[in-house]
Parts: sequence; structure tokens; C-alpha cells
Amino acid sequence: MSKDKILITGANGQLGRVLATALRKVHGQDNVLATDISTDIPDDNPYEFLDIMNVTRLHEIVESYEITQVYHMAAILSASGEWNPLKTWKVNLDGYLSILDLAEKFQIDKVFFPSTIAVFGTTTPRENTSQHVPLMPSTVYGISKSTGELWSNYYHDRYGTDIRSVRYPGIIGYQSLPSGGTTDYAVEIYHAAIKGEEYECFLAEDTRLPMMYMPDAIRATIELMQADKNDLNIRTSYNLSAMSFTPAEIAESIRKIIPDFKIRYKPDHRQDIAASWTESIDDSMARRDWKWQEEYNLDAMTVDMIKNLRLQQETK
Ligand code: SER
Repeated sequence: MSKDKILITGANGQLGRVLATALRKVHGQDNVLATDISTDIPDDNPYEFLDIMNVTRLHEIVESYEITQVYHMAAILSASGEWNPLKTWKVNLDGYLSILDLAEKFQIDKVFFPSTIAVFGTTTPRENTSQHVPLMPSTVYGISKSTGELWSNYYHDRYGTDIRSVRYPGIIGYQSLPSGGTTDYAVEIYHAAIKGEEYECFLAEDTRLPMMYMPDAIRATIELMQADKNDLNIRTSYNLSAMSFTPAEIAESIRKIIPDFKIRYKPDHRQDIAASWTESIDDSMARRDWKWQEEYNLDAMTVDMIKNLRLQQETK
């Protein structure tokens, strides 16, 4: 069993929960400490309450658990971040700088920093967006993540801190409902479909965004963290992709299984955010450097989502 001691921040979030389970399989149950500000304490242990703004507590945890790797998942997402821009900046950027500072002080072996398609903006080419493009994010979430990417690169070059990062597309999973993101519709839509409800979509029907199914996102994260560091050439954040679709296309995919599924469109403020992001991603550097390859396309994801949500429904 691995000697690594893993800290996950934001472990109660959409990705954090599934990541904790996956990392416990790799590193052993007791070697993965899940932390979050949520008081909804998971059955799965070990778990500690941790507000990422509490630097003293973060320091204590890193020291007392002898942490060797950090997956820093705590962040406020694109849509909810706009309600309180300065708080979002503090949580997302100051929180990350505390992690980097401790990583350097305690010689932490590896840090994972999740970045996002929200780093792109209206000056970014929208199709097959390549790795090195102008970043002009329109949300505080995007600004904090693109700045975080630069700090990652700086810590790597200056102190040799081994930070690894991907720009996640929208993530879709059955395990939990996301909150506060612009891509959340692509999870909510399946929940409505299996309940036989019409779904009111907050994005316009032709808004194409890059997306990924949860098992691919978790595998990408773990494969990048396990890659040989000499193979890695991007120390800001790797472009990462699996599929791109519009709300109309995901509805069509659902109708292949639930033919009478209905959707109506009522775009809100999140439409402007989505419109500032790109439609599809060129992730050839991830494919070249650490052999990234997705498994799920839209229809394969739909089959698996509906199967698992129905199973959850039956056991409720
Ligand atoms: N899923 C995120 C959001 O919508 C993007 O990284 O905010």
C-alpha cells in the first residue's frame, strides 16, 4: 500500500466526493483525508472540517497528518462566484496561495490544482481551442483559476514544486448534484428525465460547451498525478477534452432512452457566461505527454447516467 498521505480540500463538492472514493482505492482508506466546510459529514472517514481561509488550521492538518500530496478541490464556481466577486477571489486565489506556501515549506511531493474552461474568454478562438491561447476570462472564477495557473507555473519553476493541473470541461456525474456552475444543467437534465419531468434549461438550445463524464474526469486526474514528471511539459494547466454538445443534443440523446422527454429553454445570466467560453478543446498535449484518452461520448454517458440514476431511485 502507498505511503502517500493525501489531503483533499473541497472533498464534499461534485468532484471531491468521487475523487475521495477513487483515491482511497489507490492509496488506502486511512491515507486519504477528506476536508470541507460542509457540515454534512460523509460516512466515509477520515474527514475533518476545514475552511480553506483558516491558514492556521490548514497548517496544523498538513503537519499532523504528515501530508505528502494535496488535491485542492475547494473553490467557488463560475455562476455563484459572481454574487460575491471579492469573496470568490479570496477563497479561490488566497486559498490556493496558502496551499502553495505550505507545499513549499513542507516539501509536499505533489499538488493537484483543478483549472477550468472558464479561463477562456471572448478573445479566445472558440473551436478546437489550443493550449496556448489568449486568456480573457469573464468571471471571477475564471480570473482566479487563470491566475492560479500562473502561480502554479511560478512555484514549479522557482521552487520545484510538482504541481499538476487540468482545465476541466463541465463534469457530469450521477453521484451528486453540482451547484453554482454554468455547466450544471447537463446534470440536472438527467435528474428531471428519470423523474418524468419536463426540464427548464437555463442555457439556450444551441449553446455548445466542452463536457466530460465523471469516470473520465477522475481517471484523467489520477493518471496525470501518476505520470512520470519528466513527461510533463505544461506546468500551468493542461487542456483536457472528451466531448462537446448543446442542450438540444443532450435532450436528443436522452430521448433515445426516454422518448417522451421534454425540454424548454429559459436562458438566464448563465447564458452570458457560457457564451464567453469555448465550444471545443484541442487537448493534444495531454494525449501526447501522459497518453490521455477518454472513454465516454455523449450517448455512452447518457446510457450510464440513466442506468445509475434509476438504480439510485429504486433504492431510495
Ligand atoms: N463546471 C464549471 C462551472 O460551470 C466550469 O469549470 O462553473
